[in-house]
Amino acid sequence: MSNQRARVEQLYDSLSEDYRKWSPSAHFSDAHAQTVSLFLRTLPANAPARIAELGCGHGTWLKLTIDELRAAGRQCTALGLDVSAERIRLARDYLKDYPEARVEKADLLRFEPSGEFELVYVFEVFQYFTHAEQLLILRTWLARLVPGGAIVVVDKDRWSRHSLLCEAQKRLGRLDILMGRFRRFSARFKEVYQTITYPDFRRLARDLRRSDGISVQVQRHHEFTSLTVRRSAPR
Ligand SMILES: C[S@@+](CC[C@H](N)C(=O)[O-])C[C@H]1O[C@@H](n2cnc3c(N)ncnc32)[C@H](O)[C@@H]1O
Repeated sequence: MSNQRARVEQLYDSLSEDYRKWSPSAHFSDAHAQTVSLFLRTLPANAPARIAELGCGHGTWLKLTIDELRAAGRQCTALGLDVSAERIRLARDYLKDYPEARVEKADLLRFEPSGEFELVYVFEVFQYFTHAEQLLILRTWLARLVPGGAIVVVDKDRWSRHSLLCEAQKRLGRLDILMGRFRRFSARFKEVYQTITYPDFRRLARDLRRSDGISVQVQRHHEFTSLTVRRSAPR
């Protein structure tokens, strides 16, 4: 395991209780609604939707997504993966009334998925990977999609204001003192910033468009960006 991977795992293990108090912002919820929720509504209702969340944390989005499907009278099976054993322990507790969900500790760079999925989504996780690693993860999971299935990545973009502030935080270390919006981050959270480099969505889309049999869409949702990669359905 690389130094970066070990550091991210250790940080999320040690901050798992702090992160448990987190809930999504209105803008993040919008990004979920305009990607995952919209896509799920396009699926045929006669079979359970098979979904996977990569880097599921303590299960926030899995629970919300299953709740939406349940409210629509839809069934699903949901796989959640995360490298942090502590976050997976909390996710198992958080999802204890959700038998359709299975969560496992896994490093996304080593995990070899099996089975087929209608939807795979990755929220605020690509920020821990290099561009080459992001492409590797996308290609690994694209191969597991049913025709018409999709992968949705949501994160802040490399060239967004948030990313530029993050880069300044990494270099100066004390940006939180100048920037009121960062004051709520404790010194412990600042360490997480050191491990983040936001993904370049346009570059990802450009590289993916070279592959046959997929469509690629990039959208802005306030400070978030999404990449949706769809495997073409048979004609
Ligand atoms: C910012 S959190 C996002 C969690 C969740 N997607 C959410 O939006 O609530 C990033 C998550 O990515 C996980 N992660 C980072 N590197 C990973 C890797 N190599 N394999 C699996 N999970 C990883 C972390 O443990 C952490 O839970």
